[in-house]
Amino acid sequence: MDPKDMHPATLAAQAGGVIDAQSGGVVPPIQPSTTFARDRDYAPLNPANTYARDHNDAVRQAEAVLAGLEGGNGALLFPTGMAAIAALFRTVPNGGRVVVQSGIYWGTTRWIRDFCERRAVKLCEVDASDSKALESACAAAPTQIVWIETPSNPWLKITDIAAAAQAAHASGALLVVDSTAATAILSQPLSLGADIVMHSATKAINGHSDVLGGVLVTREDTETWQAIAEDRATAGAVMGPFEAWLLLRGMRTLPLRVRQMCANATEIAAFLEDHLRVETVLYPGLAGHAGHETAKRQMQGGYGFLMSFVVRGGRDAALAAAGRLNLFHRATSLGGVESLVEHRATIEPNSGIPEGLLRISVGIEDAGDLIADLAQALGQ
Ligand SMILES: Cc1ncc(COP(=O)(O)O)c(C=O)c1O
Repeated sequence: MDPKDMHPATLAAQAGGVIDAQSGGVVPPIQPSTTFARDRDYAPLNPANTYARDHNDAVRQAEAVLAGLEGGNGALLFPTGMAAIAALFRTVPNGGRVVVQSGIYWGTTRWIRDFCERRAVKLCEVDASDSKALESACAAAPTQIVWIETPSNPWLKITDIAAAAQAAHASGALLVVDSTAATAILSQPLSLGADIVMHSATKAINGHSDVLGGVLVTREDTETWQAIAEDRATAGAVMGPFEAWLLLRGMRTLPLRVRQMCANATEIAAFLEDHLRVETVLYPGLAGHAGHETAKRQMQGGYGFLMSFVVRGGRDAALAAAGRLNLFHRATSLGGVESLVEHRATIEPNSGIPEGLLRISVGIEDAGDLIADLAQALGQ
C-alpha cells in the first residue's frame, strides 16, 4: 500500500517499518556511522549517504513518517524545537518583518524578540486568536513570516488557521504554525492553508520525555524550504541517529497515546470546571472556551492534553496545591505519557501569566487516579 493512502494509525504503527533486509527485523536498525565509504572509482557505495551531517537513514525514515502524518511534501528534523524555529527565522532578510502571535511558548517569544533586535527585523506581536487583529497586523506592511501557535501554551488560545493563512498570504508572508500541542493526529494545518508546520518533537511526538527534537514540515518544496534545508546541512543543527530511532519508536503509539491523553484531559477539565477552588479552566474542549467552535472545526478526535487553570487564592494557593500533588510530577514540558504540573509564573515572571495559574500536561494514567490526586491537592 502506498503510504499516501494509509491512515495515520497505520503510518504511525509501522513507522520506519520496511523489513530490514539484512536481519529480517521488523523495526529499523540504527546506523551510527558518521561517514560512508566510496568504491575504488570514488563513487559512494550507497549514493544516499556520504556524511552523517546530511545523511542518516533513521532521520530520513522519521522525517518521512512526519511528512506523511501532516500531509506535507517534506520534513526536516532538528535537534530541538528551538533549533527548528531558529532555522526558519534565519530565512528572514535583515530589515524584514514578521508577525508573531503574543502569549505563546515563552522560549519562542524570548528568542524571536532577541533575534529581531539583532537583525533589525520588524516584529509585530499580536493576539492571533482575534482574526481581525491578525488581519490588520498582516495588512500593515509586507511581511515574510506569520507565526502562530494553536492551541497556545500556556493560554490555550485557538487561532483560526484558515483565516490566518489568508491574512498571511495577502501580506506576501508564509504562515507557519507551531502545532506542538495539537500533534498531527488532532490537526493538519497544511490542509487548512498553512505553508509550514512546526513541532517540538520533544513533546507528544516522542511522548516519553527522553528525546529532544524539533521538526518542520512543508506543504510545498519552495525556495525558502531549500534555504532551510541548506541552513541545516551547513550550520549543522541535525538530529542524531539514536534520537531519530527513538522518535520512530515513540511515533508507533502516537495516535493511541494522544487519544488516551485527550480522553483523560476531557474528564479532568470537567472536574476542574466544577471545583470551588478553581477560578478558571483554560481548555479548548470546554463548550464555554472562547475558541471552542474554531477548535471543533480544525481539530479532530480531541482537544489535546495541555490545560491551564487558575487556583483561587493566587500564587501561594497554586504553589501549595502543586506541592500536594502526588501523581503529577512538578516539572516543565508536556506531551509525555506521565502527567506534569507547572507553575508558569515561576518560570516566566513578569510576562502577564496569572500568579495562580497551573499548567498541566495530562498523561495516559487512569483518569480517576489523576482526578483523585487533583481533588486531594485542591481540597474537597
Ligand atoms: C509550544 C512549544 N513550541 C516550541 C517549544 C520548544 O521546543 P524544544 O524544547 O524542543 O526546543 C516548546 C517547548 O516547551 C513548546 O512548548
